[in-house]
Amino acid sequence: MKTKIIAKLHEREGFVSSQELCDEFNVSRTAVWKVINQLKEQGYEIEAVPRKGYRLLESPDRMTAAEIRAAITRPTGEMGNEILSFDTIDSTNTKAAELATAGQPSGLLVVSEEQTSGKGRRGRSWSSPFGKGIFMTLMIKPDIQPNHASMLTLVAALAIAKAIGRMTEQADVKIKWPNDIVVNGKKVVGILTEMSAQIDYINHIVIGIGINVHNEDFPEEIKETATSLYRETGVHFKRAQIIAAFLEEFYHDYQIYLQTEDLTALEQEYNACLINCNRQVRVLDPKGEFEGIARGINPQGELLVETTDSNGNTCVRPIASG
Ligand code: BTN
Repeated sequence: MKTKIIAKLHEREGFVSSQELCDEFNVSRTAVWKVINQLKEQGYEIEAVPRKGYRLLESPDRMTAAEIRAAITRPTGEMGNEILSFDTIDSTNTKAAELATAGQPSGLLVVSEEQTSGKGRRGRSWSSPFGKGIFMTLMIKPDIQPNHASMLTLVAALAIAKAIGRMTEQADVKIKWPNDIVVNGKKVVGILTEMSAQIDYINHIVIGIGINVHNEDFPEEIKETATSLYRETGVHFKRAQIIAAFLEEFYHDYQIYLQTEDLTALEQEYNACLINCNRQVRVLDPKGEFEGIARGINPQGELLVETTDSNGNTCVRPIASG
């Protein structure tokens, strides 16, 4: 009932009468009053006026299902059809994968205030301090070929870049291929996509996203390269609004991706966000490092790097994300 009352208070600009809440949710006035008091204890500012009812003045920066749903303003399809919100968890990716295996339908979103074993790419850990960031995983079960799945991490990167761009308005939000989001040149978002599949069939994909939102400082080993939305803008954004914007953007771009199972129709938009486009990059290829000019991605999400040999001949090499 708490979630429903929050939704009702969000929906209404003005007052919601106690009677209306009692009638709609089939509970007593005392029960409503208790819930309102619990919400106040959780940081909701609610004005209570006799004979008028309750009015929501301010909601806290919480990542509950109620707050995320209330912030959604565009279609999200199945994305976030179930939202599980934790105070603490080992890893939202691990939880989402477990639930997927146990039969949870596609679209589940798992969110946590902190992670005790947050996972990063290449076996690294992901710093996940309580209340400072968004630690979330979207689980999907797409009916696509497994070898097309790696492109979904670029779809997610584009969606999160657009969501952050929308929220922060003027911040310089860019994608560092394949899926890091940087603001003013420093990393704000990391994405870890994991898949469970057979040779020709995907069981599930978990797209894990870590966003540095309120952090004022960072552990020694990442403090030169990491930043947060707060550090770059001076604003403490409501995390539920960022999550809602991500679900909207991801759903939109995912529909486009599904039409061709590649990035044909998203390539141009992605490339416009690419931080290194038309700049010199160093490619750490296992067969040997080399330098070239990044020319953007192709429809498969590979980075096209133009190299020039000693005779001045140029060639474009597609680099797959690994
Ligand atoms: C990276 O190394 O850049 C990827 C970091 C991904 C971190 C997120 S936080 C939510 C989700 N759960 C995890 O354990 N990892 C991802």
